[in-house]
Amino acid sequence: MDLFEKARSYLLSIYKPFPIDVDHGKGLYLYDKNGKAYLDFLSGIAVNALGYQHPAVQQALLKQINRNLHLSNYFIQDVQVELAEQLVELSGLSKVFFTNSGTEAIEGILKVAKKWGNQNNKSEIIAFEGSFHGRSLGALSITIQAKYQKSFFPLLPNIKTVPANDPEAFNKAVNEHTLAVFYEGIMGEGGVRPISESLLKAIYQGRDKFGYLIVADEIQTGVGRTGAFYYYQKRGVLPDAIATAKGLGGGLPLGAFVLNDKLSTVLQRGEHGTTYGGNPLACASGLATVNVVKESGFLSQVQKTGVYFKDQLQAFAGQYPDIVKEVRGEGLMLGLEVGDKASDLMAEGCNQGLLFNVAGGNTLRFVPPLIVTESAVDEAIDKLHKTFARIFK
Ligand SMILES: Cc1ncc(COP(=O)(O)O)c(C=O)c1O
Repeated sequence: MDLFEKARSYLLSIYKPFPIDVDHGKGLYLYDKNGKAYLDFLSGIAVNALGYQHPAVQQALLKQINRNLHLSNYFIQDVQVELAEQLVELSGLSKVFFTNSGTEAIEGILKVAKKWGNQNNKSEIIAFEGSFHGRSLGALSITIQAKYQKSFFPLLPNIKTVPANDPEAFNKAVNEHTLAVFYEGIMGEGGVRPISESLLKAIYQGRDKFGYLIVADEIQTGVGRTGAFYYYQKRGVLPDAIATAKGLGGGLPLGAFVLNDKLSTVLQRGEHGTTYGGNPLACASGLATVNVVKESGFLSQVQKTGVYFKDQLQAFAGQYPDIVKEVRGEGLMLGLEVGDKASDLMAEGCNQGLLFNVAGGNTLRFVPPLIVTESAVDEAIDKLHKTFARIFK
């Protein structure tokens, strides 16, 4: 049996993997066992912020491997504390709880919010149509997409669903019973859709009026992806809590929720916990990653390359006016809405040596490593032309 047959025999058929027998990654590229290179604009689904084999991450990991791999939260762990300090400074919030994934960060915040709501007589959570916050039963309850939810009802009660980017509907939905609003600054899985200024304003003004909590899901947008450390900073707002993951671990499984002062005393000792969350190896990798992302000039470079990439995608779209409906996104989180051939384009892109995926069913999503260069963008656009030529010949 070859590797692909073995995978079909032994793994649940949940995913549809690329037909690549991966050997290793280096910088912006993945290489298969025959040496074929793939320009990786998927980055492990927006995880590999510094690409593959970044020396800062490798050195930090090697150092930590020679100390300990795991201790548990029965110990104060120096790398974990240092990373928490960075996250507090970079987020403008107060306290951190580390998790192993984005979903678990959302689950933790749901618990904080529920307890705070019980104390303050508030019960309704607002979530937006098209959102994605994870697939555990709590996170799935606020992931408002029928394809993910439909087989798993009943989910959590007291979730009110509001159409995306409809401030009037939002204003009608919130009141003194509203406990929390969960939002993504840019819906990732939902199709790379930035939140409109009018909805963002309504969310933050509603908090002043009704005193609910605002939770920004920064799992995909965070750690520099949009050219700011967190996307809410680019939009000039400050949520009460954020969920962060993906790029945070520099390739290792790491997430966190970060709370403001008011929320940081809601959970008492014993009310929450995790065996692995904040594991020292993941935190060492995360700390090295964050230290690079916060270096002077790094984020402005992400912003600059992001603008260049978006301009190139717009020029590309101009050449396929009957196919490309829209170019969306910010920084290095960009989408090209192309309609029902999106999955075919993704497969052909792989053939041509360019990796990206489909979001929202009809949109090609590009989330390259944050170290991507303008010449790599040019290479991607060239491969995209070849991909379109094959599919629409
Ligand atoms: C915005 C958002 N929230 C939550 C999640 C879930 O994170 P994880 O897959 O790490 O559990 C994702 C993952 O794609 C995401 O994009």
